[in-house]
Amino acid sequence: MKKFPQNFLWGAATSSHQVEGRNIHNDWWLAEQDHSLKVASGEACRHYELYAQDFAIACQLNHNCHRFSIEWSRIEPLEGKFDTSEIEHYRQVIADLKIHQIEPIVTLHHFTNPVWFAQAGGWTKSDLQKYFLRFVDKIVTEFAGQVKFWITINEPLVYSSHSYLLGAWPPQECSLFKTAKVTLNMARAHIKAYQIIHKIYQERSLGKPMVSIAANLQAFEICTPTLKNKLALYLRHKLYNFYFIEELLRKNTLDYIGINYYGRNLIDARSWKIRSLLMDTCCYNHHPLRKNSLGWDIYPQGLYKLLIALKKYNLPILITENGICTENDDLRWDYIREHLEEMNKAMEQGAKMIGYIYWSLIDNFEWDKGFDPRFGLVYVDYQTQKRTVKTSAGKLAEVIRNGQI
Ligand code: GAL
Repeated sequence: MKKFPQNFLWGAATSSHQVEGRNIHNDWWLAEQDHSLKVASGEACRHYELYAQDFAIACQLNHNCHRFSIEWSRIEPLEGKFDTSEIEHYRQVIADLKIHQIEPIVTLHHFTNPVWFAQAGGWTKSDLQKYFLRFVDKIVTEFAGQVKFWITINEPLVYSSHSYLLGAWPPQECSLFKTAKVTLNMARAHIKAYQIIHKIYQERSLGKPMVSIAANLQAFEICTPTLKNKLALYLRHKLYNFYFIEELLRKNTLDYIGINYYGRNLIDARSWKIRSLLMDTCCYNHHPLRKNSLGWDIYPQGLYKLLIALKKYNLPILITENGICTENDDLRWDYIREHLEEMNKAMEQGAKMIGYIYWSLIDNFEWDKGFDPRFGLVYVDYQTQKRTVKTSAGKLAEVIRNGQI
């Protein structure tokens, strides 16, 4: 048996656009309506109305924390016009979590932007950051007394690459220059947001907040030990896994490290071109591993390796997402169990873990992939919006109750 600390954070995550339904004021909704995206989020899981029911389930499952995002486009549907009824909505959401003794972990940007912000150039324009910072100031001023854990930006590199390099997400562009610009602007925005949040807590003599990002980390491995692949491995590990974190650490703006981890990226660089070195993956299923329903490699050992690599920063680490989409709930449980075991092993070797958050509490809208991939601990029938707790969720609940695996 492997033990976990008593005050360990255990929970699951969601994000506004993926679960709430009818987020009509953001750039995703707009792209969904004009069919530049194949699937529309529509009602999603109607979590906007059903949150209390969903949190009651999280509570039954022994979760003591919950990660969710506050939808900027609801709070500020038009530039400078703040909707107080939406602020009240999230006040209720937080209050409901507190009733269940569930610690709120709040994300301030999870891939979506208000339409007015996106149409003015969004994250490509450095002078528009001020709008995000004004939103941060507003939200944190409202909720500082109730919230300790903040995540400023979810997966900045995934956002910049999917939206500006791969052309997959709004605004569906393919520009290396813009990708770099957006990444840089997000790093700067985080640094300023961090300072704003800390200032608010200081002025109100609240205890210190815990502020971070949710960084997407991958286990990079090489298919064959060629020179090209070794260089690609070095570059990807440095650039994708650690560059952003190190930028923020240089400015002392991380109170903990939030990481999202899903699996392995098997490198097979086909040429010396920078695009190949940074992007090519093995397409022959060499070194096969079990896969999720989107074909991503399941690789729990990768989590262990990354946690050990993060030790050098000497900061608390929170797993802000880890999860699997699958129709096979036995596989989901194997996935969770094996990742918890690897995490525990890293803890025994000094990784300062403070919690584990599964992605996701409920099945939801998986961005450009639509509703087919099911990541949830809880099954959602999208016709009736009925929730059904999966067996794997019950097994995780046991681990949490016993504090051991
Ligand atoms: C993360 C993202 C989530 C969720 C998850 C599963 O990159 O933060 O919103 O979609 O992946 O793909």
